[in-house]
Amino acid sequence: MSNVPIITIDGPSGTGKGTICSYLADWLQWHLLDSGTLYRVLALAAEKKGIDSDDEIAIVALAENLNVEFKVAGIGSLVNIELDRKAVTDEVRTEICASAASVIASIAKVREVLLLKQRTFHKAPGLIADGRDMGTVVFPNAALKVYLTASPEERAKRRYEQLKKKGFNANLRDLSAAIVARDERDSTRSVSPLKPADGAIVIDTSSLGIDAVLENISELVRTTFPELTKQVANHLCRVSSLKLT
Ligand code: DC
Repeated sequence: MSNVPIITIDGPSGTGKGTICSYLADWLQWHLLDSGTLYRVLALAAEKKGIDSDDEIAIVALAENLNVEFKVAGIGSLVNIELDRKAVTDEVRTEICASAASVIASIAKVREVLLLKQRTFHKAPGLIADGRDMGTVVFPNAALKVYLTASPEERAKRRYEQLKKKGFNANLRDLSAAIVARDERDSTRSVSPLKPADGAIVIDTSSLGIDAVLENISELVRTTFPELTKQVANHLCRVSSLKLT
């Protein structure tokens, strides 16, 4: 497996990771791991079973038996997500679920269990891995590591627009506070905290559109994997005036 290429894209929410990763996976026809969704589905499963977030033993057992499926549904919408064969795509997208995911994500044993699950996504012809610790812990040997960042205000605004577009109720002030609290928890936890991996290329997307971010990353893909130059260039010329969410 060591010759199957991996690109890791890490960073906090609202930096455009999800959108960028779905484009790259589509362009390259590589597998996509949306690791945040694994933590979200686990948090949702715990809630559905009435398990408290501090009941570590029960949550770890749940993680070990998590019956989750990702069904590809096209660019932008990424995937349809199923828990125990029932669609939970909308339920896992709420900020409440994200906050619950962030809480259980600080349990070391949960991360250990999900680490193995995440590594099963590493399959030919390649993998785009989206998360917080993809480059630091889950796939430390990835050939290309990117870390996306953006100002908290811009990230909250993007998440607000994204939720509204999907028909969710959202309040910018509450959302902003929830995102700041989540970032703080994710970057200060003792296991696999959110931070750029050694050697990661950091891109601040605060004032960039999706086309500019894709252009930046495509250049990195071209220099890291020269054999993919043509494939990336063909797609890149079709991307313009897209919004980063
Ligand atoms: O990427 P996301 O917003 O869907 O992630 C939700 C939460 O899951 C995030 O706040 C922290 C946790 N998470 C994590 O700890 N490690 C990852 N690789 C991905 C997500």
